[in-house]
Amino acid sequence: MSSVITDDLALAVARAPINAAIAAARLVGRGDERAADQAAVDAMRASLNALAIRGRVVIGEGERDEAPMLYVGETVGVGKGPELDIALDPLEGTTLAAKAKPNALAVIAIAPKGGLLHAPDTYMDKIAVGPGYADGVVDLDASIEDNVKALAKAKGVSAEEVGVCVLDRPRHGAIIEALRSAGARVHLIGDGDIAGVIHCTKPETGIDMYVGSGGAPEGVLAAAALKCVGGQFQGRLVIRNEEERARAVQAGIEDLKRRYDLNDLVLGDAVFIATGVTGGSLLDGVRFAGGAVHSHTLILNAATKAISELRIRQPV
Ligand code: FBP
Repeated sequence: MSSVITDDLALAVARAPINAAIAAARLVGRGDERAADQAAVDAMRASLNALAIRGRVVIGEGERDEAPMLYVGETVGVGKGPELDIALDPLEGTTLAAKAKPNALAVIAIAPKGGLLHAPDTYMDKIAVGPGYADGVVDLDASIEDNVKALAKAKGVSAEEVGVCVLDRPRHGAIIEALRSAGARVHLIGDGDIAGVIHCTKPETGIDMYVGSGGAPEGVLAAAALKCVGGQFQGRLVIRNEEERARAVQAGIEDLKRRYDLNDLVLGDAVFIATGVTGGSLLDGVRFAGGAVHSHTLILNAATKAISELRIRQPV
């Protein structure tokens, strides 16, 4: 059976992150995270509502009672066309955008209805590697040392040549120490672990593995990207208190300790699209010049295996 996830559909949906990125880019470097985020949300919502889809937001700006727009459960699109699950992050790396630092992105993933895990807004412990390794080469439940050793062996290099991306957070102190004593090079990022995971698929970044905890919604979005280009991802929700437990239960999670593999997070075909807000290692940022706005977008389609880059110059 052919998938509803065509390249034409992916191209149409790309308007949403492109418009979100352009809207957020006007506020880059202004120190106002909320304003940049709001601009991105407004633009993404308007773009989605113009599409011939029957979309349902499964990962969005929050639950209905806390997010007025693009809340989980909101339907988007004109109400005809394919039924889709939509995971979105109109501005991934709000702090990066506010401080004009690299790798702020506007991100969306789509899948046929029921194809994306409705992840609650909690943390998730994550481990990811790029394509080309035997299944299970690294393991969320193995020690850092064992994972570095296994990856070095699989890559045919010494541990000193293994690069690992980690969010620079005090909670990751022990992981960072263990990585360094295992011999690995640690690439610390200030924010943006969707990009952190995607780095593993790009040898030029020098990053082979991503580890640590970050947002669970970002985990699903990163898994959607890997589903398209290959790679492995394992994650487990981090439930720290009663409120987070309730959030997970409300999202329909039955086993709070479950370990999710890539195919549990993204069940079948999916499209992942990201537009650069600020320039970085994955994408150029939005640039306003000569009466035009330039944007750079990556479109990955797991159904067709197409990998496209879109550079658009449009009048401001
Ligand atoms: P925002 O865009 O919501 O600011 O998220 C940025 C981010 O760095 C994510 O990429 C990551 O998953 C999460 O925050 C980590 O959370 P925390 O900043 O609490 O460690």
